Amino acid sequence: MKSSAILRVFVFMLVVLGAYLWVGKAITAMTGGERKSASVVEVTPEGGEAIFWGKGRCFTCHSIGDEGSAVRCPNLGQFGEKFPLSIGARAEQRAKERSEETGNHYNSTDYLVESLAKPGAYLVESYKNEMAIVYAPPISLNLTEIKAVIAYLQSQGGDLDLEGIENPGELAQSYYARITAASAAGGGDPENGEEMFVDTCADCHMIQGEGGDIGPDLSSIASKGLKFISESILRPARKIAEGYETWVVVAESDGRKHIGLKTAETPTEVEITKATGEVSTIARDDIREIGQDEGDSVMPADLTEALTVKDFQDVLAYLMMQKDENAGKVGVTQ
Ligand code: HEC
Ligand code: HEC
Repeated sequence: MKSSAILRVFVFMLVVLGAYLWVGKAITAMTGGERKSASVVEVTPEGGEAIFWGKGRCFTCHSIGDEGSAVRCPNLGQFGEKFPLSIGARAEQRAKERSEETGNHYNSTDYLVESLAKPGAYLVESYKNEMAIVYAPPISLNLTEIKAVIAYLQSQGGDLDLEGIENPGELAQSYYARITAASAAGGGDPENGEEMFVDTCADCHMIQGEGGDIGPDLSSIASKGLKFISESILRPARKIAEGYETWVVVAESDGRKHIGLKTAETPTEVEITKATGEVSTIARDDIREIGQDEGDSVMPADLTEALTVKDFQDVLAYLMMQKDENAGKVGVTQ
């Protein structure tokens, strides 16, 4: 190659490299990637206002008084006969009514957190349960952003209670835990996750004393982290939980193969429990072969086929909430 040709190739490579850098930067700018990581919202009414009319997309469904143009969902300001109170005052009134009805203390922070964390819990009269799950995609607000929005809503005609937002009572705390878990799982709706879990997993796994006992109890599984949990579901055999190895026993008399967990053994017998829960007892002197199959888990590898990507994420969010024996169930009530 002549030196001018080498130079041309070199210049060409520089141009290509430059173009890559430029495109990368342009994409970051378009998706707001840099801005997002740089700006941390403050838990103040102003911080919440920015979320309400921006990232939170609340304005696509709600107006506040005359501000905004959305009409299909409850107006959060004072508006006509239907909405005599702005949301701050409305939340206080609803909380008071609820406290009187149930005899349990319930305040405006509780009401607002609940409206955001579990919109189905209390439906505003004549509206359907169409409120967005604001901590799941595509909105994906984190806990700080949600606290800021609550401060903003309280400042609409109510008493701003920053101390109460930062250190709320048990009910709001359990909702905060749900939002944190959902954020940690990359966004997901733990309530739907619980339903999916009951349908697809609870035959084998127990959480808070409910479910089957073929697989390990998952009441404190969150401590193992998101990556471990998702891999356990996607590829169960990759890392088999101790004590849950898969055993294969072949009987001499009928040649039958028993595959499952070794759930009991005595000097004369071995008990194998299959994935279905069916139990076989094989006499030791009838055993032709016995051993572990390290490449196989009793937990089926194709479970995710029964779940959509969203359902899978929701299950992860639900499992990330399972912190210990006392961790609240999703169905928290007063
Ligand atoms: C897809 C439309 C939609 C979006 C987006 C949405 N909401 Fe809602 N919201 C609703 C509907 C519908 C209701 C009434 C049903 C109910 O009570 O759950 C509601 C109810 C509420 C309530 C209770 C109102 C009352 O009168 O007690 C609050 C508070 C609220 N939303 C706040 C927000 C905030 C804050 C955001 C943004 C972070 C938001 N919403 C985003 C549709 C939406
Ligand atoms: C047929 C029974 C069965 C079903 C159904 C089942 N599992 Fe499992 N699971 C097991 C067994 C047995 C183990 C232990 C062996 C292993 O680690 O692969 C296990 C292990 C796990 C672990 C790892 C636990 C630990 O402490 O290491 C997680 C997490 C898990 N399962 C989640 C799920 C989820 C989520 C579902 C539903 C989508 C599900 N399982 C459905 C039987 C089952």
